[in-house]
Amino acid sequence: DGTEEIPGPSGWPFLGNIRTVDSEVPLKSILNLADQYGPIYKLNFAGRTVVFCSSWELINELCDEKRFAKSVNSALKEVRNAVHDGLFTAKMGEPNWGIAHRVLMPAFGPMSIAGMFDEMHDIAGQLVMKWARHGSSVPIMVTDDFTRLTLDTLALCAMGYRFNSFYHDEMHPFIEAMGSFLTESGSRSRRPPFASILYRDSTHKYFEDIDWMRKTADEVLMARKENPNDRMDLLAAMLNGTDPKTGQKMTDSSITDNLITFLIAGHETTSGLLSFAFHQLLKHPEAYRKAQNEVDQVVGTGKIKIEHLGQLKYIAAVLRETLRHSPTIAQFAVAPIQDEIIGGRYKVPKNQTIALLLAKSQMDTTVYGKDADKFKPERILDENFDMLNKKFPNCWKPFGNGTRACIGRPFAWQEALLVMAMLLQNFNFRMDDPNYQLHINQTLTIKPKGFYMRCSLRENLT
Ligand code: HEM
Repeated sequence: DGTEEIPGPSGWPFLGNIRTVDSEVPLKSILNLADQYGPIYKLNFAGRTVVFCSSWELINELCDEKRFAKSVNSALKEVRNAVHDGLFTAKMGEPNWGIAHRVLMPAFGPMSIAGMFDEMHDIAGQLVMKWARHGSSVPIMVTDDFTRLTLDTLALCAMGYRFNSFYHDEMHPFIEAMGSFLTESGSRSRRPPFASILYRDSTHKYFEDIDWMRKTADEVLMARKENPNDRMDLLAAMLNGTDPKTGQKMTDSSITDNLITFLIAGHETTSGLLSFAFHQLLKHPEAYRKAQNEVDQVVGTGKIKIEHLGQLKYIAAVLRETLRHSPTIAQFAVAPIQDEIIGGRYKVPKNQTIALLLAKSQMDTTVYGKDADKFKPERILDENFDMLNKKFPNCWKPFGNGTRACIGRPFAWQEALLVMAMLLQNFNFRMDDPNYQLHINQTLTIKPKGFYMRCSLRENLT
């Protein structure tokens, strides 16, 4: 009938391809398999099939929301154990998604995010102070400090809560619980169901972590209800907002689901972006120089103001090019609404999970040319970015697609621009080990592993 079987490696009985995939950095195997089997292939995880797509053409087809919808499977299904039908993990059609989405859209709009600038600046200032005190004699554990930054920023802007991560060596217990919960969610999704008996201790710890996170978030919620204040943060938006469509308010448990969702969705992604961006700048001195010059020209030596951020065109391109090379959410998943044929010849049944492999599709030479694998912010400056998106729709997708795209994008963008500008304004950076080769740490997101920098305060500044 003109259709073809989707290729893929043969697997073991029961286990399927579980052993084909590296347990520490699954993405590495997933990308290698794409090199081996081409732009579409399938794997079987103990009876559950996942199709992986990695060419721009296929990704573009899969972004058609009339034919495909977000699939909540694998690790996301496990994350639901903690945050249920919160925005990120809701299945299509769950009513709480619609209510939360409509209540929260204005709170994530440009005006509202601009109102968070001072609090973002406060936390970024704490990072600058810490690194200034370190001086150049101490290696900076880049990803850890960016994670302190993004978590503290999110908790402050979302709910007026201060983790004060820069004042402790140990991470806050909530953060510990969240970290091990996320890692375990990933591991659980790759285990065959019949293996759960072997993992009793981790399962016990997993549900303890969930209790811990929910208890902490509930406490913040209750404290605000008992002592209302005039903060205009995300928590206030959720407590006071009414869904214009149904007239309903968000329930307390839906608010808790979403408070934890923001912390999960918003911290590793942005911290990974900042870490990869600095790694790229240190590997590309010309881009580094241009980025720092831009800050000097636009901001000078004074305090960074919100008006400056929109003028940092080159730094915006650095961030975009970083997310093209290293999308911190390296893949997202959809499923056909009806039985489908994709790529003109591959049958995929309704509800079949299909992973969109951004870490590969965003390197497609059809879109980005022969030097697609080079780091070149120029190719993705505003005008070029618009042209690329017109000519190759859906070629740059690090924030996901359509109605289920990232609601926190303006938040992440403002924070990332501010932090890049503040750091380049105040410091000169170098690689701690000039021979460092990029390795990836993977939880639900990817981050550089073992990446250290050194910084020194710039002399022309006080
Ligand atoms: C959804 C990426 C920052 C909250 C998503 C999705 C992606 C993504 C790819 C879609 C996932 C899917 O289809 O399964 C990123 C990246 C970020 C970032 C790369 C930073 C560089 C943030 C921040 C927040 C946030 C700061 C919160 C303040 C969310 C939420 C969703 C989401 C709630 C679910 C939206 C929905 O389905 O209605 N993000 N994100 N993200 N993100 Fe982000």
